[in-house]
Amino acid sequence: MEEHRRRYYLDKIGIQTWVTRTASPESPSAGLTGEDVPLHAEHDEPVDTAPVKDFRGSLDELRNEVASCTLCALHQGRTQTVFGTGSPDADWLIVGEAPGFEEDRKGEPFVGRAGQLLTKMLRAIGLERDEVFIANILKCRPPDNRDPQPGEIEHCIPYLAQQIGLIQPKIILAMGRIAAQTLLDSPSALGRLRGTEHHYADTGIPVVATYHPAYLLRSPQQKRSAWEDLQFAVRVRESSS
Ligand code: URA
Repeated sequence: MEEHRRRYYLDKIGIQTWVTRTASPESPSAGLTGEDVPLHAEHDEPVDTAPVKDFRGSLDELRNEVASCTLCALHQGRTQTVFGTGSPDADWLIVGEAPGFEEDRKGEPFVGRAGQLLTKMLRAIGLERDEVFIANILKCRPPDNRDPQPGEIEHCIPYLAQQIGLIQPKIILAMGRIAAQTLLDSPSALGRLRGTEHHYADTGIPVVATYHPAYLLRSPQQKRSAWEDLQFAVRVRESSS
């Protein structure tokens, strides 16, 4: 991407391009924030990350199946399911946590304020929303935007596994603690999962973890670290087959 365009998008994200990257150590509070609470901290049993399922239908057929899901109580409060949007042939799969108020209304992931920041983050690495695929761990909105519960994740994660099997992305970008811990089946804090190339189950598909855009809206001082994660993800993608 041309330098002036990159600078434009970095400015839009809120990263001042005149600050040197090395001059920005992570906040001393990193590791102590809500973003870093282990998903499994209160549960002995880790949530099972289902392996890629051999789903025989198309992505649209899977979308229809998800639309009629009643496996957990979240279906009672939803306006509609939020399956995901983007290209079915995407190289990049972006995975968030769960739909919020606006996503539940529109049936699309990441359309609120966090979604607008996500769009800018993607543009900063030369990607438009319609060339990636954006999905969530949960397909239904949890009440009051609370964290997904382990049982809800357990019921819903096979759908994401099937999406991964159908899309066959070249890289998965996990946005935030819940997405990272679930996709990697790890109780580690997000701070430990960032900056390393992981792989999804036994597929060999690289997974890179970064901060959730909603967290970045609350903690803009972490945007520079997120930008480093995005650049790392680009390098991982370039070196993957
Ligand atoms: N946050 C998420 O994790 N996903 C969305 O779709 C919207 C907000």
